[in-house]
Parts: sequence; C-alpha cells; structure tokens
Amino acid sequence: MSTNKTNYWPTPIFHFQMIWEDHKDILKECEEWCKLNNKEVPVMLHDSTREYADPYAGMSTNLKDNPKLSKLKTWMEKCVYTAAEEVNRHYWKSLKNQPKVTITDLWAWSSTEYYNHYHGHPNSSWSGIYYLDVNDTHKQGHTRFYSPLPFNHYSDAGTLFVDAESAISYEPGDGMLIIFPSYIRHEGMPYKSDKRRTLIAFNTQIN
Ligand SMILES: [Fe+2]
Repeated sequence: MSTNKTNYWPTPIFHFQMIWEDHKDILKECEEWCKLNNKEVPVMLHDSTREYADPYAGMSTNLKDNPKLSKLKTWMEKCVYTAAEEVNRHYWKSLKNQPKVTITDLWAWSSTEYYNHYHGHPNSSWSGIYYLDVNDTHKQGHTRFYSPLPFNHYSDAGTLFVDAESAISYEPGDGMLIIFPSYIRHEGMPYKSDKRRTLIAFNTQIN
C-alpha cells in the first residue's frame, strides 16, 4: 500500500529584525504622543488623506508632518511586500500590474501595563507589529497567534497534532517586526512594569 500526504492550509508569519535608523527619535515621539494622551490607549497616526474616528484613539498626529515616521512607514510597506510576494509569487504572475502595498491604518501603543484580547484585523490584507522598545517586559506580554483551524474540532488522540499547534507565541524584542495575515487571531498577553513598552501596529491593503 502506498500512502501520500500533503499539508494544506499553511499559515505564513514573517518576522524581521531591525533597529530603525531613526529608532530613538520615533520612539521618543511615540512615547510623547501617548503620554500627552494621558490614557493607556493607542494613538492613531494618519496621513493627510485619511481621518479616523476611532473611539479608542484619544488623539492623533499627521504623518505628513513627520518625515521620519513616513520613512518608517515606507520600510514597513517594503517588508510587507517581501512577505506577500514570497507566498503569492505564483499568483501574481497573472496580474496585469505589480501589486503595491499601502499601510491604511497605523497606531502606537506606549504603556506600562497592557493586555489586548483575542482579535483579528478586519479590512486588512496583512497586518504588522513593530516593537520599538520593550524595556524589561520581554519576558511578559508575548504576542500569541492562534491557528485559523476551528476550535470546535473533535478532540482525541487522533487530533493531538491539531491541538499541539493551536497557538504559538512570539517573545517581543526591540526592533522586531512581525507580519501576519490579518485573519489570524491573536492576543497581546499581559505585562506590567515600571517602564513603558512602546510599539507601532498597522494594517495594509495590497492592490
Ligand atoms: Fe492586533
């Protein structure tokens, strides 16, 4: 008897490691915006063509007034392109135009304690998290990604391989950029410290 096996439904998650050239400046600004906001909520960063009415955003800043942040945005778009191109290369051959990555939403978190419940990012192609500064919190507050397979599958010895890979965790580090398909549910696990953790997160569209 011959047996054939093929693995379907892979879930690509990419991570890049780079301390951005203007890292310290961007970090300082994100911290300032979040401190000014005076609440532990994300601060929306927007470009001149979009305005946000996010109930969780206490204030926002405009990217066009911030060339360093615009450069960072361009770098993150390039990283998303690298990820998306790798898994779509075969399919993109049939497209008329080369797809372009656009970051559509960009926001910053800077706080001494945090928990972000289980969620996905609707209206996004790929999403990303860029850790600017995790201070002493890297052993806490991992980002946990959950398998897109249904939670309600029949569970027994025959499906242990599904349960074993139902979630994976990334330990955050300064300069780490994680890029993931936005349908992947994830959770920002809790951390608490005297020092701030500062990160930027974003959504994209690719057309
Ligand atoms: Fe998220």
